[in-house]
Amino acid sequence: MQRVQVRLPARKQEYEIKIDADLLSELGRSARVCLGEGPRRTAVISNKTVFDLYGERAVKSLRSSGFKIAHWLMNEGEQHKSLRSLEKALFFLSDAGLERGDAIVALGGGVVGDIAGFAAAVYLRGIAFIQVPTTLLAQIDASVGGKTGVNMPAGKNLVGAFHQPKLVLIDTETLRTLPRRELTSGWCEAVKQGAAGDRRLFDQTVRLLRRRSVDSSLRRDQNESQTEICATIAAHCQFKASIVAGDEREDISRDDHRSRRILNFGHTIAHALESVTGYRRFRHGEAVGYGMLVAGEISKSLGMLAPNELELLREAVRLCGPLPRADDLAAEEISAAIKLDKKSVSGIIKWVLLERIGRARIVSGNEIDKRVIRSSMRAGLKPLR
Ligand SMILES: NC(=O)c1ccc[n+]([C@@H]2O[C@H](COP(=O)([O-])OP(=O)(O)OC[C@H]3O[C@@H](n4cnc5c(N)ncnc54)[C@H](O)[C@@H]3O)[C@@H](O)[C@H]2O)c1
Ligand SMILES: [Zn+2]
Repeated sequence: MQRVQVRLPARKQEYEIKIDADLLSELGRSARVCLGEGPRRTAVISNKTVFDLYGERAVKSLRSSGFKIAHWLMNEGEQHKSLRSLEKALFFLSDAGLERGDAIVALGGGVVGDIAGFAAAVYLRGIAFIQVPTTLLAQIDASVGGKTGVNMPAGKNLVGAFHQPKLVLIDTETLRTLPRRELTSGWCEAVKQGAAGDRRLFDQTVRLLRRRSVDSSLRRDQNESQTEICATIAAHCQFKASIVAGDEREDISRDDHRSRRILNFGHTIAHALESVTGYRRFRHGEAVGYGMLVAGEISKSLGMLAPNELELLREAVRLCGPLPRADDLAAEEISAAIKLDKKSVSGIIKWVLLERIGRARIVSGNEIDKRVIRSSMRAGLKPLR
């Protein structure tokens, strides 16, 4: 088993991320160890797809450790990461009689994790929660770092709270049932983490992706040693945890290469692509795949990033899997959507660019010629071959 310790010095908090194949059957025992003997109930929040696949195992394990269980299945999809769903979740918790000392278990991808975590942050002014992420994206990214929240009609993640879990339990076997596009999306975020902040992590990820592409006739992931997958996921959790430990709340005054903001590499364009296609064409990570390439092109045009480094990035994104086309989208619309990015500060977009793979630099939008952005969009949004 791989273990990653997350330390949050500012809060004097610490929790563990456990990663292994078939960990779900350990959920009850691990929950008892981290929550203690006090809690009587756990409320499982999931959705139908995930619960049908993994609910029984999770519930059985929790029961065998003496927890009474209630569960609630939220509707599936990003559009349900909403205040309405949050309200339903809170009614469920109160109907289930959850008390201060009890805990919530989030079983699912990032959508379930963000809603369950937010409900845990505000129900009775905060109760314990455990993350059991079942998508690659949630395992390497969304479940680490304590951001929880919901979308508003005006944009994604506009309402939320920082609320750290007591435990993150990653069962890598759950990835076997994950649809291909969800895997691609997760791998793109993995490439992002390495590219933005850690060259060794990038290389480790690309090595694994190369082996996957050689074995592409087989079912994805089946032929890979679970040890390698676990080690790579652990390395990603470790990386994200280290960034979060140094900048838990994403301080907007920071723009150094270890600030949490570097994790937005590729996201300025990604959010714009998602928005101009009504959130229907791209899985989030797929849009990040293109976003990184556009940011890479900008970096190259500004003379910051060597052309061979950009080639490496292109190869990495290509290895993640096929992306929906993006070269038919109007540059003006994308530019207009970028201006609405909620990550702008005083109306100025902060681009996360690369000096090299593994080292990001944050640059103000007003320092970049619009023509550079346009031509980089054209180059970065071309189909990858
Ligand atoms: N809190 C954070 O720090 C953070 C970071 C990144 C992303 N996010 C959020 O995460 C969300 C995206 O998460 P996601 O990519 O996990 O998407 P998701 O939660 O929508 O899951 C994707 C799909 O996979 C299905 N699924 C989940 N696990 C499965 C499994 N093991 N087998 C088969 N199907 C499975 C789900 O039912 C869903 O249809 C976004 O809302 C994003 O804002 C949050
Ligand atoms: Zn992302």
